[in-house]
Amino acid sequence: MAREVQSEPDSMLKIRDVISIRDFSREQIENLLELADDMEQVFHSGSDILRGKILATLFMEPSTRTRLSFTTAMYKLGGKTIGFDSPEMSSVAKGENLSDTIRVVENYCDVIVLRHRMEGAARLAAEYSDVPVINAGSGAEEHPTQALLDLYTIKKELERIDGLKIALLGDLKYGRTVHSLSYALALFDTSLIFISPEGLGMRWEVTHDLKNMGVKVEEFKDLQKVISDIDVLYVTRIQRERFPDPTEYEKLKGSYQINLEVLKNAKPSLIVMHPLPRIDEIAPEVDGTPHAKYFKQPYYGVLVRMAILKSLLT
Ligand code: NCD
Repeated sequence: MAREVQSEPDSMLKIRDVISIRDFSREQIENLLELADDMEQVFHSGSDILRGKILATLFMEPSTRTRLSFTTAMYKLGGKTIGFDSPEMSSVAKGENLSDTIRVVENYCDVIVLRHRMEGAARLAAEYSDVPVINAGSGAEEHPTQALLDLYTIKKELERIDGLKIALLGDLKYGRTVHSLSYALALFDTSLIFISPEGLGMRWEVTHDLKNMGVKVEEFKDLQKVISDIDVLYVTRIQRERFPDPTEYEKLKGSYQINLEVLKNAKPSLIVMHPLPRIDEIAPEVDGTPHAKYFKQPYYGVLVRMAILKSLLT
């Protein structure tokens, strides 16, 4: 459970851990995105807001952006980082369980950022930890800080979130970013369109929850049916590493690609986003178009993660 902060009533987030985007209210998200705006100046000047604080990055699955952007965010705020970037480099390789790792690492740091292949891992870690835990990806379940930076990207690029039509395209079953993002968008007045290859549709429970929350959700097989209507196209890769059977992946790989032809009838203001890494689902010819925002997301991600760290640690 995200624990309410009792001792720090002024703490903006009023939660101790960042485990699921569902622990956030719209107001908390809006406050955080405003704080991310303030972080732009700090990003350029540097600061000592978190001097003396240590962030531990425990990554038990591969990462480029999330780990490096948390590290950059901590440095920009004057803090330091420790950690490892694969389980082989830690005592996990010797058979240590997650709760023991957490009970040791909490002694070395003020906040833990954890990526783990198991759903529920971050929640478990938070239960054992005396310092805040940030979920940097828990299996196919959630990736809440990615959702926050995705929202921030939409807000910065389109100047609003309410009133938008947002299509999520790709592996909606195993992709954790689309789960967190859908729940986050449900707090705003958005309508969602899910497009996925056969067998990789949005998890039933997510669609069910969204409908219960009053969100307009539509599912399409063909992007062309909606391309001229949408404001945001959020593309994801097929999550090969999560397939129980590699032959299933082989059947589906390369089954969709965004290229200039696909975008021909798009609104000029359409933004194309991707949490990255991209494999082949967006052709490089899209990179130079005004639609492409996927290489701006990493910058927005640092600002958002600075805002998260500042909120949790001051
Ligand atoms: C995503 C992840 O790890 O879930 N990457 C990221 O953090 N930007 C998306 C992915 O791996 O496809």
